[in-house]
Amino acid sequence: MSLPRIFMIGPMGSGKTTVGRFLARRMGLVFHDLDQEIERRCGVDVRTIFDIEGEEGFRLREHALLNELTLADSLLLATGGGSVLRADNRALLRDRGLVVWLKTCVDQQIRRLEKDQRRPLLQAPDREERLRKLAEERDPLYAECAHLIVDSDNVPPLQMAQRAAKRIQQHLESEQVS
Ligand code: S3P
Repeated sequence: MSLPRIFMIGPMGSGKTTVGRFLARRMGLVFHDLDQEIERRCGVDVRTIFDIEGEEGFRLREHALLNELTLADSLLLATGGGSVLRADNRALLRDRGLVVWLKTCVDQQIRRLEKDQRRPLLQAPDREERLRKLAEERDPLYAECAHLIVDSDNVPPLQMAQRAAKRIQQHLESEQVS
């Protein structure tokens, strides 16, 4: 069986990068993190891109790189939480690989992101309210895009990766049968 392309989607703090790394190693896939790749190519961090170009500029860069990276073979890509905002991003993710939504609740996000200073959309007076609003807007978009949903609450990343690997394997096998 050829190696799949796997795309991890989900909100900030759902564990896409950490779980994705474990999962890629386990499945023999090349790991990329979309934000880290944007930062590497721009030579500045995401926060600086937001400061200079606004969210709109960041989304354009995000789309261009997503379009490029989702064509690579044997890839596991951890996307940014807002990658699903554009309909064309959702379509290309869904068409080009297996999309796994790491689903998590806002309480868990708050705990994991407590000290975060680098995510521009999180720098709000009331983080909880911001995350709840984002979840309300975006959960339907994650749902539209995902082939698989894996619950990431209260599970350490390694265990999470094992859980996701099992689900992905089952999904790929069922696709071969049908
Ligand atoms: C964003 C999530 C971030 C990053 C940027 C915007 C979002 O990625 O792309 O700060 O819109 O939710 P992570 O989900 O990896 O934190």
